[in-house]
Amino acid sequence: MISKTISKRGAIAAKTALRSDMDLFFEASGDLWDAKSNPDGKLPLNMAENNLSWEKLQEEMETVLKNNSIPDWVSNYTSPAGAPEFLESVSSYMNRYLCRFPVNSSELFAAAGCTAILELMAWVLCDEMDVAVIPAPSYPVYTQDINNKAKVERFDLVNHHEIDQLGNKEILSLDKLEETKSQLEKEGKRFKLLLLTNPDNPTGRIFTNGELDNISNWCIKNEIHLVVNEIYALSLIDTSHPLIANDYSYQLTFKSFSELMHLKESPYLHLIYGLSKDLGSSGFRVGIFHTKNELVLKALMNLNGPHMVSNLTQWLFSKILLNHDFLDSYITTNQKKLSRSYLTVVKTLKELNLPYIPARGSLFSWFDLGELLERNTKELETELWMSLYKEEGVLLTPADGFGHSKFGQFRLVHTYLQEEALVEAMKRIKRFVLKRRR
Ligand SMILES: Cc1ncc(COP(=O)(O)O)c(C=O)c1O
Repeated sequence: MISKTISKRGAIAAKTALRSDMDLFFEASGDLWDAKSNPDGKLPLNMAENNLSWEKLQEEMETVLKNNSIPDWVSNYTSPAGAPEFLESVSSYMNRYLCRFPVNSSELFAAAGCTAILELMAWVLCDEMDVAVIPAPSYPVYTQDINNKAKVERFDLVNHHEIDQLGNKEILSLDKLEETKSQLEKEGKRFKLLLLTNPDNPTGRIFTNGELDNISNWCIKNEIHLVVNEIYALSLIDTSHPLIANDYSYQLTFKSFSELMHLKESPYLHLIYGLSKDLGSSGFRVGIFHTKNELVLKALMNLNGPHMVSNLTQWLFSKILLNHDFLDSYITTNQKKLSRSYLTVVKTLKELNLPYIPARGSLFSWFDLGELLERNTKELETELWMSLYKEEGVLLTPADGFGHSKFGQFRLVHTYLQEEALVEAMKRIKRFVLKRRR
């Protein structure tokens, strides 16, 4: 029966969880493992957060607050695109750490996290029922971000089933894009947006500049918007470490899409960036959109009233993003810690001979426990996921929702817990897999 106390769309929202593992995450976080005080506690590894370097950022923020008085503009409304002072700092930060070409602050737009950016971007670039194509496996919450309000449909482009079919192949071929476009057109649908994550969530793979060049030419030719989400741009792993160097058949340096945008000057190319992951500051809610499409920027500004970043946050980060000494040191040590926690995970995956995708960036390991499923079904995957949680207290994110054809794959966030807890989690995963194998 339809309730009279809520609208029809409100009722749909009440049934559409932001993500399926959120409640479990909070349950596990309330009973966190500690070697001494809670040795039987839980080890959540499903929230894409980086807690490895917070102390360093915290100290810097406290210094800024101690040494500066808060300027008057902070207590007033500011431009819906973002405070000019803040956008200038973002532009300077991006020029120094992300790209070689200048990103003009007039081509930047800020909202409360990339979640808000994604929702607004889908609204402004697509119409209802248009299709956003996303290579699988990919970030599950894109579904809600683009569909809850903008009603844009997600299409998962699956180009492999088993991890070892991937090899060092390109992530997305133009043939596959053409095929997808024809398939969608046959179904009477419109392919309006291609959404890529680089470095990728969950695989940690990186697109080469050549791939992105070809893909952007194809998108421009077909009048399809290409949005590259670089929220993990500086979360890079040292792939030259002897334990993992052989996992990569070629070395690859991450290059921001902003460089191609600068060269091509197209209204169809856009970039997302944010501070949640690279600066481990998801609670501050800072997302950035970069585009050379003036009409899109205008539309975003007119819609941004409910999503603006608080001025205090904008002011604080405008100071931090200009402090190059701090950032140089933060980014270097953060990447060292990130590489170390990735190695901790991969060491166990190698010992267990479990297939995984060698990551070059992001906060994740994406690996395959499919051998423990009798059949490739969502139900058996859920059962396995829950058994690992109930028996060992380790919480991962299951493949369901990532839009992939193979169940039994899992995403592990290696930056949520500190090293000692991560080692404990890997010990428990090992025990679980060995027990199941027996
Ligand atoms: C690919 C991707 N985009 C967006 C987000 C959300 O970011 P924010 O905290 O800026 O809303 C996440 C968070 O996990 C993500 O992985």
